[in-house]
Amino acid sequence: MDPQPAAGPEPGQVTDRNLALELVRVTEAAAIAASRWIGLGRKNDADGAAVEAMRHAFDTVAIAGTVVIGEGEMDEAPMLFIGEKVGSGGPEMDIAVDPLEGTTLTAKGGPNAIATVALAHRGGFLHAPDIYMDKIAVGGGLPDGVVDLDATVGENLRNLARARKCEVSDLVACILDRDRHKELIAKTREAGARIMLISDGDVAGVIATAIPDSEVNIYMGSGGAPEGVLAAAALRCIGGQMQGRLLYEDDAQIERARSMGVNEPKHKYTVTEMATGDVMFAATGVTSGAMLRGVRRFGGGAVTHSVVMRSKSGTVRFIEGHHNFSTKTWVTS
Ligand code: FBP
Repeated sequence: MDPQPAAGPEPGQVTDRNLALELVRVTEAAAIAASRWIGLGRKNDADGAAVEAMRHAFDTVAIAGTVVIGEGEMDEAPMLFIGEKVGSGGPEMDIAVDPLEGTTLTAKGGPNAIATVALAHRGGFLHAPDIYMDKIAVGGGLPDGVVDLDATVGENLRNLARARKCEVSDLVACILDRDRHKELIAKTREAGARIMLISDGDVAGVIATAIPDSEVNIYMGSGGAPEGVLAAAALRCIGGQMQGRLLYEDDAQIERARSMGVNEPKHKYTVTEMATGDVMFAATGVTSGAMLRGVRRFGGGAVTHSVVMRSKSGTVRFIEGHHNFSTKTWVTS
């Protein structure tokens, strides 16, 4: 009997190999590099170190990758700019990166700074420009549409409490501590929910809604649109609902979004519209947070804590990496 041809990837499926496990080396490299700058008050140095380390680490990942969410345009970012090709060759994929999500957190030694990457087939990610996005997110196992960007804060909290069979006062909402959120914070308190204000890092804030052990039940408010896509990629893998709507300050931003392929500028994007197909997500803790421990450095090495996830299988793996710096030429100290 003739051998059956090997089954190739299904449409929208990245590859039969779980590249998420290779991806973690990329986020580990960025996190280790950034960790050298924890608490030193130099966020640009921390960010630069993470970007450079992540860019080098991509050289060993067997993909033909194109950065679609990155460090900016080619003329403003030396590495990991939008459109940059990365990887050592292999299946064609789109890549969303944030080598250091939480630059100020890192500079101040605050919690929840992470290095993060997501991967999808070509066209799998919303090409979000670097503007704000209005976001709302809740964890998995809840009825579809339990929260909605167009509902009032009170309605969302009451609907969520009903679905979770608890009181609104049992809920905790995670919100970025910003002046622009004064009204959102006031309405959340008025409705009776408790609040966890975070100074930065809304990728971790959104993901926290989907982590069983975390005390966060809902994320609300505006933050970076690229961070919104990365958070959506994670929720695609671990389950959870999120809506995002791009927020524009002027017509130039609308034009910019259109030029990146956003045809309906006011559209309310779901998780699947922001990250579709077979999505992989990896993150390594830089400083400790609800999901990940930060990098622990010791003489000649470091220990990292990472998470890798894949939407196709729904598997979530936590990985502890023990690194020996004498074998890593890119670690400066
Ligand atoms: P950086 O890592 O680029 O400093 O971003 C941190 C962050 O808090 C994001 O998590 C969030 O989406 C965004 O900044 C919010 O922007 P702003 O600080 O302008 O409110």
